[in-house]
Formats: sequence, C-alpha cells, structure tokens
Amino acid sequence: MDRPLRVAVLASGRGSNLGALIAARLPVEFVLVGSDKATAGALALAAEAGIPTVSLSPRDYADRVSFDRALFGRVAEARPDLLVLAGYMRIIDAAVIADWEGRAINIHPSLLPKYRGLHTHRQCLEAGDAEHGASVHFVTAELDGGPVVAQARIAVRPDDTEASLAERLLAEEHRLLPAVVGAIASGRLRWDDGAVFDGLPLSAPLTPADL
Ligand code: GRF
Repeated sequence: MDRPLRVAVLASGRGSNLGALIAARLPVEFVLVGSDKATAGALALAAEAGIPTVSLSPRDYADRVSFDRALFGRVAEARPDLLVLAGYMRIIDAAVIADWEGRAINIHPSLLPKYRGLHTHRQCLEAGDAEHGASVHFVTAELDGGPVVAQARIAVRPDDTEASLAERLLAEEHRLLPAVVGAIASGRLRWDDGAVFDGLPLSAPLTPADL
C-alpha cells in the first residue's frame, strides 16, 4: 500500500486499547474515533492525539438500527480502510455490519469461541480454566463470532480475581491488537473471502510470536 492504512476506531469506554494503538506508532492514519458515549475516555484520548471524533447518543434515535446506520454512516464518511472495534459495547445490526465484512476487526477478552458476550473473566474463573486469553477477529453479524485471526494466552493463577485476570489480560490485549493492525497495514494479513496471512488462508489463530 503506497499510503498509510486509514483506520477508524469505535469505543464505548476508557479506550486503553485505542491508547495502545496510538502509542504503537503504526504506519496508519487514524481518521476517526467514534463512540456511543459522549463521556467515553476514548474520545478524550483521540482529541489529545488530534484524531477527529464523533459521538452519537442512542437516545436520540428511534431504534437500534437507526442509531447504527447513523454512526456507521459517519464512520463511512471518514473513508477508513479498516474499522477497529476496541471496547465498543453495542451489538451491531446485522445488515449494518454486513457492509464491513473483511474491513472490521474486534478485540474480545476471551479465547473464542469460548465466552462470547460479557463477563468473560468471571466465566473463565467459574469454569476453573487453566488458561484465559484475548482474541482478535474479523467482525460478522454474529456477536463475537467472526473468524478469529489472533489470540494471546495467559495462565490463570489460583489467587486470581476477576479484576486481576482482567488487568493481566488487558496488558496482552495492548500488545495483540496493535500487532494485528500492523499486520493488516503491512498487507501480511488481509481478507479475501476469509482471512489470509502471508498469502495462505489462515487455518488457525495467529499468536503474538507469529506477528
Ligand atoms: C477490553 O477488555 C476489550 O477486550 C473489551 O472491552 C475492554 C475495553 O477496554 N472489548 P478499553 O476501553 O480498550 O480500555
């Protein structure tokens, strides 16, 4: 690619994954950070970094799909090559997200397909799993269901709480997501009716060592 990858990010909260993407100094141009929460810390992080922001309130829309169409319409106006959902906590209308097939990725704090949805750390502890982890996947209409392209794993410790597990995992997320975005920016990882890495269909999630 003879120009930096244009990246838009959606976040609903503090935006630590956004912060990690910015700090990674990737060969990308952040064209927009959007949120469904006007108070999201991610918006302040973006503004400090000089990245254009948009926040729309679901309360201003008659229904979910109207909100999704409005927010994703604003994202489309920024003409991103890649949309990153980094702590975006809304379920997106299937028709709306279908337009982004192969152009949107999400980071989810579990070893997918385990523990889709919320409270992943609690589910991991309750199940007594020896390992936990984070997954980056291409986004499809299925919640946390798209093709997983990369995973980072951590050991669960006997004294772990939901908070300690979340904190340790977040540090791994902050390495994994920038590595995946970097691989997309370099062209190593791309979408061609499925995930392709170094020219071959991706048959298993990449690890941080692969990236
Ligand atoms: C992260 O754990 C991410 O995996 C999940 O929500 C959290 C967002 O954190 N989707 P942040 O807003 O990026 O700090």
